[in-house]
Amino acid sequence: MKEKLIQALNQDLAHEYEAVITYTTFAARVKGPYRPALRGFFLKEATEELGHAQFLADKIVALGGVPTTQPATVPEAETPRAMLEAILKAETEALERYAARMRQAEEFGDLGLAARIHAMIEDETEHKEEVEKLLAGFPG
Ligand SMILES: [Fe+2]
Ligand SMILES: [Fe+2]
Repeated sequence: MKEKLIQALNQDLAHEYEAVITYTTFAARVKGPYRPALRGFFLKEATEELGHAQFLADKIVALGGVPTTQPATVPEAETPRAMLEAILKAETEALERYAARMRQAEEFGDLGLAARIHAMIEDETEHKEEVEKLLAGFPG
């Protein structure tokens, strides 16, 4: 049970590292009239995802595991709209993973972990809703 939890948290960690790279890369690559706003948004998100990654890595070590250093596959996107769509998909999937992880942490009996995952669910929900709002009025 503990091994399964460590393995699952390592999957989450790989996706958080992926998110850091995605947001950092998109902040660099985003072009067009909305660059300043989107860049600011991407950079802020990158910082939050890095905080999630650090928490997960710390927790994996606390559980006796070894944190992965391999990010999940970073999505490719050229246009601002494609970037936002890729992010929306990633944030939606992160929410699904963390919903499952929170239950897993509760079953394992680590309520502190469950509470932290709950807080990350809040963060990812906020990210997802912001991207939805950006996309709702996005030209093109
Ligand atoms: Fe995250
Ligand atoms: Fe996020």
